[in-house]
Amino acid sequence: MCGIVGYVGRKAATPILLEGLKKLEYRGYDSAGVAVWNGEKIEVEKAKGRLRVLVEKTDNGAFPVGSAGIGHTRWSTHGKPSDINSHPQTSGTGRTAVVHNGIIENYMELKEYLASQGVTFVSETDTEVVAHLFEHYYKGDLLEAAERVASVLEGSYALGILVADHPDTLVAMRHDSPLIIGLGEDENFIASDVTAILEHTRSVYYIEDKEIAILTGASVEVYDQHSRRVKKTPSHIDWDVQAAEKGGYEHFMLKEIMEQPAAVQATISPRIKNGRVELEIPLSDEDIRSFDRIYIAACGSAYYVGCAAARVLETLLHIPVLTQLASEFRYQSPLVDERTLVIIISQSGETADSRAALREAKRLGARTLAIVNVVGSAIAKEADMSLYTWAGPEIAVATTKAYSTQLAALYLLGIRMAEARGTVTPERYGELVAAVEALPGLIEKTLGIKEQTQQLASRWFSAEHVFFIGRGIDYAVSLEGALKLKEISYTMSEAYAAGELKHGPISLIVDGTPVIAVISDNRLFEKTLSNIKEVSARGASVAAIVCESARDISGEGVTPLTIPDCEPLFAASLSVIPLQLLSYYIASLKGCDIDKPRNLAKSVTVE
Ligand code: G6P
Repeated sequence: MCGIVGYVGRKAATPILLEGLKKLEYRGYDSAGVAVWNGEKIEVEKAKGRLRVLVEKTDNGAFPVGSAGIGHTRWSTHGKPSDINSHPQTSGTGRTAVVHNGIIENYMELKEYLASQGVTFVSETDTEVVAHLFEHYYKGDLLEAAERVASVLEGSYALGILVADHPDTLVAMRHDSPLIIGLGEDENFIASDVTAILEHTRSVYYIEDKEIAILTGASVEVYDQHSRRVKKTPSHIDWDVQAAEKGGYEHFMLKEIMEQPAAVQATISPRIKNGRVELEIPLSDEDIRSFDRIYIAACGSAYYVGCAAARVLETLLHIPVLTQLASEFRYQSPLVDERTLVIIISQSGETADSRAALREAKRLGARTLAIVNVVGSAIAKEADMSLYTWAGPEIAVATTKAYSTQLAALYLLGIRMAEARGTVTPERYGELVAAVEALPGLIEKTLGIKEQTQQLASRWFSAEHVFFIGRGIDYAVSLEGALKLKEISYTMSEAYAAGELKHGPISLIVDGTPVIAVISDNRLFEKTLSNIKEVSARGASVAAIVCESARDISGEGVTPLTIPDCEPLFAASLSVIPLQLLSYYIASLKGCDIDKPRNLAKSVTVE
């Protein structure tokens, strides 16, 4: 979704802003803009469409010339994508420029008030209200104006503000939308996401809700909502610049698929010591034994991780585990109380629906645990406990390595909890730990299936519909496979529990319809095979993900995609790999914008 970057220092701001915005492209956007103090006035350049249009418009960053500015990539909410609706938005005099992530919920009310004061509006955005409001309250003191603005805004915002009266200063403020300050030498930055400023600094301040920061090249002052100065300690960002670069791959998605063995290794190895799972969360054996159910809430792929993990946790813990879409959690009257553990899974840690589910769970008295990738993100901070997935920066909108590390973190949690609850024998405990430790190597081996998925993609890429089927954990993986394919290749794809196919969707199977079956557990082999036969008999073109030890089915007209044998509870970590690759190659053959699929955003900060 929207991205913010700001610079104040001695260098030319525009190229730094454009570079920063380029790093934020992955979040998804439909227009972009910059505002820079050019020595006389705040000069604004904005453009609908891809960032390259803005780059051309500014002659590759040659102008506006100046060393303080703000930039933005916009993902439309209020008003269609257009030059006018792009940010920065300015006040009528042009002396205040604002970039904004989030949604101002009371903007209509504020707009009416400002209109009654004679203000005219040129855009359809909620953000323009903030620019006018700031100017309205500004009487010479930036902090005072920012505080007054904060006192009337309702909703979520991360704001970067440039005011002509203080051309060497930026104002940054936030509520319910991430914002960080990057600390440099004789220069400072603001950004909605560390990737935007990583090449300049790794030293950052996290701005908390309702805090206001006033930055110049030489200083950063942060204030709380009562105008008290806040002493901040810089955090060091470990992510390196290369991690956020393509490193020779054509797309981030392929790079991130290939990074999965290392990412899973990074998530598990610090947490397994001498054959024992040790998690850094404050969850005692007694706490673990007190839970009588678990809810998992998440969105998108993280929700499908939850679907697979629920089967694992239920098997290991012998208590009900329910997975719900975070956006639906509040409307399902969840049976949550202090004996419930609620797990929120989120790569970004900022997804608005997942945050709302977290708050609801806390309100109902549950213990909450976040499985999150982005350190310091809102969900990580708000949950009672956080378990980080050490996937590193994930840039492609379609998640791959974050998905795999989320699964791995949940396996570790399951093993740890099963031990405390006494639901596994010591032998089984040892087997499970060994099975998790084996995963990075097995994922590496599974990636060897690349060429076969490429061949399958060349047979199937022009298909209009693709079906995914599986049972149990394989059904959860099928759901993820269908999501991957539709998000990046725009192919209609549906996942069904294999046994459910004959209750309706089989009517859609015609000659040549591609069907991919997932059978990662040999115990389900014959059952799912009978569903394969049902669709084959109706002309489907079938491929099946099967284990090495499974019976050979190539003679039955099925294209096998073979994955290594592994502990069936953890097989989702392997069976998802061919599905990621298949989607990638189909999207590639269709010429799609793989890393930045249309209409999608990486970090969805609106409900
Ligand atoms: C968006 C992304 C998905 C992601 C989902 C949840 O829809 O496009 O790839 O799975 O958000 O995001 P989160 O950051 O909470 O994991």
